Amino acid sequence: MDDYAEITYKGKTYKLPVVEGSEGEKAIDISTLRQKTGLITLDPGFANTGSCISSITYLDGEKGILRYRGIPVEDLARHSTFTETAYLLINGVLPTREELNRFSVLLNDNSLVHEDMQIFYQNFPRASHPMGILSSMVNALRSFYPELQTVEEEINKTVTRLLSKMRTLAAMSYKISMGHKVIYPRYDLPYCANFLNMMFDSPVKPYHIHKELVKALNVFWILHADHEQNCSTSAVRVVGSGRVNLYAAISAGIAALWGPLHGGANQAVIEMLSDIEKSGGNLNNAIKRAKDKNDPFRLMGFGHRIYKTYDPRAKIMKKMCDKILKKLKIKDPLLDLAKELEDIALNDDYFKECNLYPNIDFYSGIMLRAMGIPTNMFTVMFAIGRLPGWISQWKESADDPAWKLSRPRQLYMGPTKTEFIPIDKR
Ligand code: ACO
Repeated sequence: MDDYAEITYKGKTYKLPVVEGSEGEKAIDISTLRQKTGLITLDPGFANTGSCISSITYLDGEKGILRYRGIPVEDLARHSTFTETAYLLINGVLPTREELNRFSVLLNDNSLVHEDMQIFYQNFPRASHPMGILSSMVNALRSFYPELQTVEEEINKTVTRLLSKMRTLAAMSYKISMGHKVIYPRYDLPYCANFLNMMFDSPVKPYHIHKELVKALNVFWILHADHEQNCSTSAVRVVGSGRVNLYAAISAGIAALWGPLHGGANQAVIEMLSDIEKSGGNLNNAIKRAKDKNDPFRLMGFGHRIYKTYDPRAKIMKKMCDKILKKLKIKDPLLDLAKELEDIALNDDYFKECNLYPNIDFYSGIMLRAMGIPTNMFTVMFAIGRLPGWISQWKESADDPAWKLSRPRQLYMGPTKTEFIPIDKR
């Protein structure tokens, strides 16, 4: 044991190995702690707990660094496409041109969903949230494509199917919610352009595919593609650890992403900015409420468990947002409000002391609005982007020789052994 930490308990000292990651991060390996000492660790929200060893994404929250398979997210946003980044995450290396072409063809080959799935959509109540529908539909895919996942080829097929069909399912849910005709995926269009076409084309008004919007969507999805062991990714890993099929694990990830403290924040930001605008644009009141410990209100799109500096994805998103609005000649008052709110918050002592900076969700909703995406679809957009990350994390855990069923412990603080009193004697 080269490097180790010591824990002394009741006069006895135990050595625990310290492991080092490829970027110099260190962790105490406590896998033998209970066996050696009888103790467990207590870490609400897992803020100090590394749940796995991973080679997918590197994130330094103090320096604002994010890399997929070693490549800075800034470079991917500038030079790559979402399809290429998805390939990188899932396969570990950038594809050759041939590999990328084959991958794109496979995605197009798998883009249709079973016609019977349309019947499911009709039966959801009108007001259903698209995240609930998407989670159910992805789970339902398993019933339509029930092959076993024991063979490598089969796993690859399921992965391509999911990547392609989830995009189709999302666009279908929008069209059906509008009461409009479903637009089928087109063989001649790449991933992002195909999605925009399925969302906005119609028999009465053909959709013009705007290359700026395609680029913006590529960037949006690249920025969301993975973020190491966040809430939804951990959900995918935990659910997947029971050796459940990939569709069910992803369905759990979608459900976890839905919450306003996680992926649902992009919708919550727009709702918050709209409320501020409607009530006369009083930003100082929003700041005051966010600081008041007796008020549950939080500044949505601000703060992050890991980033203690500006989220590098938010920087790119802010620039992209400005660019798209300018190109499309859109004037969105919410963008002005967001920038003003950011200025006030970044100069406020409370936000400075708590290291609260805008996260990716702060500007992403404004960009999605400019693209014509309805607010209740924002988190669905996030889910499509996060899919390659979920898949690669699921694959990594499934392939891990040290794989273990996820099963944390707890510290019980309930009643001790209590006598059962029959109902008529209580
Ligand atoms: N507004 C006001 N205060 C905040 C905010 C906020 N957005 N975020 C954190 N704080 C305060 C907390 O009240 C807390 O103060 P205290 O220590 O005095 O009680 C302190 O900062 C630390 O906050 P925690 O909630 O303990 O930090 P945690 O790491 O658990 O939370 C989280 C991270 C959930 C993202 C939080 O910052 C938040 O609720 N943000 C708003 C929702 C949001 O934008 N979520 C998207 C995150 S990015 C993503 O998942 C895609």
